Amino acid sequence: MQKIELPNLPYARTALAPHISENTINFHYGKHHQAYVTNLNNLIAGTELEGKSLEEIIKISHADKTKAGIFNNSAQVWNHTFYWNSMKPNGGGKPTGAVLAKIESDFGSYENFVLEFKNAGATQFGSGWAWLVLEDGKLKVTKTGNAETPLTSNAKPLMTMDVWEHAYYLDFQNARHTYIDTFLNHLVNWDFVAVNLK
Ligand SMILES: [Fe+2]
Repeated sequence: MQKIELPNLPYARTALAPHISENTINFHYGKHHQAYVTNLNNLIAGTELEGKSLEEIIKISHADKTKAGIFNNSAQVWNHTFYWNSMKPNGGGKPTGAVLAKIESDFGSYENFVLEFKNAGATQFGSGWAWLVLEDGKLKVTKTGNAETPLTSNAKPLMTMDVWEHAYYLDFQNARHTYIDTFLNHLVNWDFVAVNLK
């Protein structure tokens, strides 16, 4: 039976340094992301979910509250893969082209988007995610707790920032604000957003 796989990182483990260190990637991708994949395969083995796509598993388990463990692990597998793709070396800063035009149209300015995104990341109490999504044709900033993901809503995810402590604690300790600033200024992969927006 086809297993859920841990996708390769879209860059080397050293590629986001000095902003996100190889040490963080070794734990966050190599241990945490891998553990969600391993747990999920163990949880679905021999069940009707084995062999289904990751997206199908997320939707089915979200709708069935007896499958909370499967939801948490499957959504975390998907969210983390999306997060790795939401960053790139020498990313961040103000986007250009169609992405900038859409941001200016829907948020008023890039600066307003930055304020909203920082606020979403900073005010997500405890573990979770900040997102840029497309909903009803408009860009929106949202946040989700724990493993929750826009995939189970009408909104289409465009990029995400992990604000679980494991995403930043080794590099920034408790300074979530500094991690968020670093993500926006040096890491966001606007090319990925542009592809998702098409
Ligand atoms: Fe994470």
